[in-house]
Amino acid sequence: MANLFNFAFLLLMLSAAESLDNGLARTPPMGWMQWERFRCDTNCTKDPDNCIGEKLFKQIADVMVSDGYKAAGYQYVSIDDCWMAPERGPDGRLRPDPERFPNGMKALADYIHAKGLKLGIYAAMGTATCKKYPGSKFYLQLDAQTFADWEVDMLKLDCCYSGDLADINEGFQVMTLYLNLTGRPIVYGCSWPLCTEPKPDYKAAAKHCNMWRNYNDLRDSWDYVYAAIDFYGNNTEHFQEVAGPGGWNDPDELVVGDFGLSYDQERAHFGMWCMMASPLFMSVDLRNIRKTSKDLLLNKNLLRIHSDELGVQAYRISKGNGTEVWLRPLRSQYFRAGSYAIAVLQYYNYGGPLPFSSSLQNLGMNNKSGYKVTEAFDGKDMGKLLPKDQLNFNVDPTGIYMVTAVPLS
Ligand SMILES: *[C@@H]1O[C@H](CO)[C@@H](O)[C@H](O)[C@H]1NC(C)=O
Ligand SMILES: *[C@@H]1O[C@H](CO)[C@@H](O)[C@H](O)[C@H]1NC(C)=O
Ligand SMILES: *[C@@H]1O[C@H](CO)[C@@H](O)[C@H](O)[C@H]1NC(C)=O
Ligand SMILES: *[C@@H]1O[C@H](CO)[C@@H](O)[C@H](O)[C@H]1NC(C)=O
Repeated sequence: MANLFNFAFLLLMLSAAESLDNGLARTPPMGWMQWERFRCDTNCTKDPDNCIGEKLFKQIADVMVSDGYKAAGYQYVSIDDCWMAPERGPDGRLRPDPERFPNGMKALADYIHAKGLKLGIYAAMGTATCKKYPGSKFYLQLDAQTFADWEVDMLKLDCCYSGDLADINEGFQVMTLYLNLTGRPIVYGCSWPLCTEPKPDYKAAAKHCNMWRNYNDLRDSWDYVYAAIDFYGNNTEHFQEVAGPGGWNDPDELVVGDFGLSYDQERAHFGMWCMMASPLFMSVDLRNIRKTSKDLLLNKNLLRIHSDELGVQAYRISKGNGTEVWLRPLRSQYFRAGSYAIAVLQYYNYGGPLPFSSSLQNLGMNNKSGYKVTEAFDGKDMGKLLPKDQLNFNVDPTGIYMVTAVPLS
């Protein structure tokens, strides 16, 4: 059985590799995750339709296929905390709560796979999960193997009750190896930087994980959404430099379609998650979602920006007087080399729309033949602009305006 404390040899092997090389997450992963919306709702007597159990995940998988989410690129149905039985089995293995997952986890994986989707699961590397279910300390290898045996496709590894910093740093790295040793491709999401504040090692996270949480759990309110955006804009630790194909900064689940955001705020939230090349994990009741929110989540133009192959996360080039400007270089079959997505966000939460006006060359775009400029949300053609021409539009309070600019030859 795995013991966290004598891994010097394994860590040596790991440090030979330059970056996580499991061939996964070449673009930021997309799917649905239980946590923000359904939390740790385990009473199926009281709340049979929403409790954390196989019924919920099957229904979500059904809707992801029937309502076009799968076709749009959302792939993972991801289970968060509170799926486990209170104790490990006699063989030491984790087991799902027998009442809420009466057919076991392998059967749920089979169901999800039959829909053409993938299954994500949750564990914590300390002595317990955040909600006090069995932790993976001393069991990391067995748990990795158990998840592989169930044919799980993604793991979110959390770090509540994890002991000291050295344990955390070792545990996350060792799990990389154990997942690899199973031979099954499993996307590895780490809460590692968030767990090691205030001095996270982003290079280490990028070397060992496919995505890594680096900021607070997102909640269903604009204040939380904007704080995450501002954290990314500040980029204090230069963590943007480590994102790219295979590994992504993760500002947490999407709350589009929930209760707390206005329509403008939902657009700003979704638009910025696409700009920031964030994993897109919807945490919303997809069985019952407003059409405007659904259309946003399925917006093809935005998703092309999100999943751009170049894999460069947007950076904030200015902030002041109520607006901030973000640029994301793009290159894919939709955006030839030299293209950009430009987002202007109004962070004031009062008053009315603010005008934005800038030449493209002021934004660093100097292609002599100009650019074809397109509004990003509805695809409206905004014409051809030369570098010295002004780009003009208005941005609503706590709202966003986004365009793409493709160089002309
Ligand atoms: C579940 O909810 C029911 C109905 O509200 C209640 O009677 C029962 O005690 C709850 N079970 C647990 C384990 O909390
Ligand atoms: C395991 O690691 C090796 C070497 O980095 C890599 O080539 C292989 O694809 C990995 N396998 C899995 C299942 O992650
Ligand atoms: C970003 O930096 C500004 C200026 O230093 C600071 O006031 C703000 O709190 C920072 N935002 C976050 C989310 O850390
Ligand atoms: C804000 O506006 C003032 C007055 O127009 C201007 O002097 C200042 O440079 C602006 N600041 C930023 C950060 O754009």
